[in-house]
Amino acid sequence: MDLTTDEQAMLDGAHGRATQKAMQILVALGTIYRAPRLIPVTSVQIAGVSYDNLGEAGLQFLAEMADGGGQVRVKATLNPAGMDIENWPALGIPPDFAEKQMLVIDAFARMGVETTCTCTPYLIGNLPAYGDHIAWSESSAVCYANAVLGARSNREGGPSALAAALTGRTPEYGLHLEENRCPGLTVNVTARLQENTDFGALGKAIGEKIQATKIIPYITGIDSASLEQLKSFCASLATYGGAALFHIPRLTPEASLYQPPAESLTITQANLDDANRSLSDATEAEVDFVSLGCPHLTLAEIARIAALLDGKQVTREFWVTTARPIKQIADRLGYTQIITAAGAKIAADTCCVVAPIAGRFTALAADSAKACYYASGKNNFKTLFLPFEDVVRLAIQERD
Ligand code: F3S
Repeated sequence: MDLTTDEQAMLDGAHGRATQKAMQILVALGTIYRAPRLIPVTSVQIAGVSYDNLGEAGLQFLAEMADGGGQVRVKATLNPAGMDIENWPALGIPPDFAEKQMLVIDAFARMGVETTCTCTPYLIGNLPAYGDHIAWSESSAVCYANAVLGARSNREGGPSALAAALTGRTPEYGLHLEENRCPGLTVNVTARLQENTDFGALGKAIGEKIQATKIIPYITGIDSASLEQLKSFCASLATYGGAALFHIPRLTPEASLYQPPAESLTITQANLDDANRSLSDATEAEVDFVSLGCPHLTLAEIARIAALLDGKQVTREFWVTTARPIKQIADRLGYTQIITAAGAKIAADTCCVVAPIAGRFTALAADSAKACYYASGKNNFKTLFLPFEDVVRLAIQERD
């Protein structure tokens, strides 16, 4: 790989141990993927924040990078942590876990990372522009950034995203290159799409078809989609298909650069119904945990929950997960008060997947196809996949 004088100096250790280690990670990655050089990035989003996923080895790596003088060179935010950093006892997080989680957050803070823990960084000011090269690692956010914003990111691992933050660089390969952003398959959607869950089910249906080839879909038949529906779709397509980019004519900014590919498939109403059904194996009576906010909720979604919960009481553990800055606005607008008065919990900084809750519940109800995937695969919960408002209704329904 060709390195600039400054990059070579980082690699030689002139900027300290942590920057050197970061540059070694990027050069190794670039060599594997035959990148000719490094390119500057404008934004970083780092996954691998929950102590539940990191464990002691991960914590030690981060502490060493912070002790080694690592300092970010570009804007960098974090993915959700394993708990609400300010209100973890309310979520039933064990104190020994909280102590370790705070050491993780502290290591990132010492390196100058903004310790805002969210998978929707684009809602809270980490918002790249069209064409920006970035290094993000949360899969749903990478898909959103590439497809909806037209920024350019590979799906980074936690260490390579941190390395990008500490050097301001990433290897030039994959989705940073124009030629790798072309669609290879036209997906004609004839199914009706209304709820977030329809977009989640669509992501699963398409994802399972492209999983093996990682071909970029060019999706027709979708005339409109809200921000919330697109974030739901991105999370699902990334989870079930490993996808980091798609194009939808008139909805995503790069679609107009391409013609629909000749190879095609159709997603019918029957396909969507199958995907929808396949995400549930629990009955309503079995559900003892309810969560909305995968990916993290927008303020509008929190307002909807508050309106539905106003004056009611929940009968099951209910987590409303979002980014801390969104919660702070919800506090000011009175939504938090209504939601907590109903017995539900606003869980900022975290989510129902990365929190250490294995063994605590039997069945999760959610409107997120991604949350269902991990509830079952990571935590061994049964799942009930329901539209947004039905999830809230179930949360307040009397239990048998
Ligand atoms: Fe975000 Fe957690 Fe879902 S990180 S996309 S809320 S699994």
